[in-house]
Amino acid sequence: MSTSDSFRLDGRSVAVTGGARGIGYAIARASANAGAQVALLDLEQASLDAAAEKLREEVPGSRIETQVCDVSSYESVEGAARQLEERFGATDVLVNNAGIAHNVAAEEMAVAEWDRMLQINLSGVFYCSQVFGEKMIEANRGSIVNIASMSGLIVNRPQPQVAYNVSKAGVIMLTKSLAAEWAPHGVRVVAVAPGYIQTSLIEGFLGTDVLRDYWVGGTPLGRMGTPEEVANVVVFLASDAASFVTGATLVADGGYTLW
Ligand SMILES: NC(=O)c1ccc[n+]([C@@H]2O[C@H](COP(=O)([O-])OP(=O)(O)OC[C@H]3O[C@@H](n4cnc5c(N)ncnc54)[C@H](O)[C@@H]3O)[C@@H](O)[C@H]2O)c1
Repeated sequence: MSTSDSFRLDGRSVAVTGGARGIGYAIARASANAGAQVALLDLEQASLDAAAEKLREEVPGSRIETQVCDVSSYESVEGAARQLEERFGATDVLVNNAGIAHNVAAEEMAVAEWDRMLQINLSGVFYCSQVFGEKMIEANRGSIVNIASMSGLIVNRPQPQVAYNVSKAGVIMLTKSLAAEWAPHGVRVVAVAPGYIQTSLIEGFLGTDVLRDYWVGGTPLGRMGTPEEVANVVVFLASDAASFVTGATLVADGGYTLW
């Protein structure tokens, strides 16, 4: 295989959780552009249908499936994986991207809010990894790419986000632990830790001093990242070009964590 071929995903099936918008959608598009057939998993069929239609227009000839799935429910993940396998075949690459963010001071956080954050951002990654990983282990091949965050490595400023930070730190350790356990089964598990990326997740801050002073000002490259810049890293990590990479978290933050 030539070097450029090893970066492609031809013939692979890629499943992306939270694929209907934002970084997940960009990952789906980059995967399709790299030759993969792609399944979008998200909470609502209507947004999945709209995303799939857009994707088919943006990547003509691509095969795109959709599947409703709530990653915070083990039952939902099991059902989604079963239905997807019937229509789509085995999944070669799972991208655990679905996630939420919430800024609440620790002393004011309701227990239910803490639980929900951990349930979606951390338990959801474990549920999907276990359910899809079981089939990968049987096949003795596959890769799982988890979307963590630089917030799993540092405490961001100025927003208080203890539950988010903890959930993403958990994703980074989950990645290492699964990578070690599943390496003998031919399954690689890796993560990406993005910095500030312009999506609806941080829309409420656009045009504010917080964004300009702390987030962009704190980024050596002097700007926020784009979903495509995360997606390209994901495609690399999912591909054979990264065949000796497992357990690693690749930081894509414009240098934010350097300062
Ligand atoms: N935007 C950033 O700056 C940034 C930085 C670092 C990490 N991240 C991470 O990247 C991932 C994607 O973030 P984004 O900015 O694209 O967010 P987004 O809000 O634009 O998209 C998130 C998607 O996940 C889906 N989702 C939410 N809960 C779900 C659930 N329980 N089951 C299935 N799908 C669910 C949403 O419906 C949505 O389509 C998240 O894990 C986020 O923490 C984002």
